[in-house]
Amino acid sequence: RTLKARTVDGVAQLIKEGRAKKVVVMTGAGISTSAGIPDFRSPDTGLYANLQRLNLPFAEAVFDISYFRNNPLPFYTLAQELFPGKYRPTITHSFINLLHQKGLLMKLFTQNIDCLEREAGVPDDKIIEAHGSFARQSCIECRKPYPRDLMEKAIREKSVPRCLEDGCGGLVKPEIVFFGEQLPSEFFANRHLPEEADLCIVMGTSLSVQPFASLPGFCTDSTPRVLINQEQVGGIGLRPDDVLVLGDCDEGVRKLAGALGWLDELEALWAK
Ligand code: OAD
Ligand code: ZN
Repeated sequence: RTLKARTVDGVAQLIKEGRAKKVVVMTGAGISTSAGIPDFRSPDTGLYANLQRLNLPFAEAVFDISYFRNNPLPFYTLAQELFPGKYRPTITHSFINLLHQKGLLMKLFTQNIDCLEREAGVPDDKIIEAHGSFARQSCIECRKPYPRDLMEKAIREKSVPRCLEDGCGGLVKPEIVFFGEQLPSEFFANRHLPEEADLCIVMGTSLSVQPFASLPGFCTDSTPRVLINQEQVGGIGLRPDDVLVLGDCDEGVRKLAGALGWLDELEALWAK
């Protein structure tokens, strides 16, 4: 059951022949750049290259829990730009939804906090938000949930919200996963799923943050892993059945949809 051609056509063939029907998808910030959201590590356009105004000791400090404890303001200065709502899903997001509609999507693991997968129509129970999301907020000390409307106000006003619990006064933050924090338990409960997959598609991520970066490694050797990304990352390409589709992910996804005979359907789904 090996992949004869390490090409987009070879992958499409697998799906068309029904030999790939448990697909795991792994995504990162690169699938949302064409929606207008910068990624983190692209040299000039990435978020980390554009944080001079925050005077951070190192760029990733803005999402570091120890740094946040002492200095939460940089995060709240930036939060408005990260807050979901004003962006539209890309055709790559719609492609994930199309996989779901065709009954092929086993699970989507995303590092993104922009909620665009959900907005594109992928149902909640298919999505593992490995780095959390802005959907909930709580105190970093006593863990008490914090009201949504007050969080929106804080983000709008670039002010730092504090826990309302008597005598706590701890810092409140959206439940996005910072460096130094645990990933949600559902990540660990599902991280072995790639073992059961018969196709893996990795898109728009530098695979540079653990433990997410270890996910493609859970695929068995006989599971083709397709990387649709600007650059080669995470050792994908080293296994015999790995397929590299380097370049813009919207373009790569259109190519794959074309090879599957799904392009019109995809464009229509995206235009909805
Ligand atoms: P990165 O910024 O590290 O990587 C984005 C990847 O997508 C890079 O390999 C880019 O070359 C590629 N890329 C960008 N635009 C693209 C496009 N239009 N088409 C194809 N590829 C494109 O983002 P992530 O891998 O998501 O965590 O970063 C992982 C984590 O690091 C984030 O979840 C965030 C960050 O710190 C936390 O904040 C906890
Ligand atoms: Zn508290």
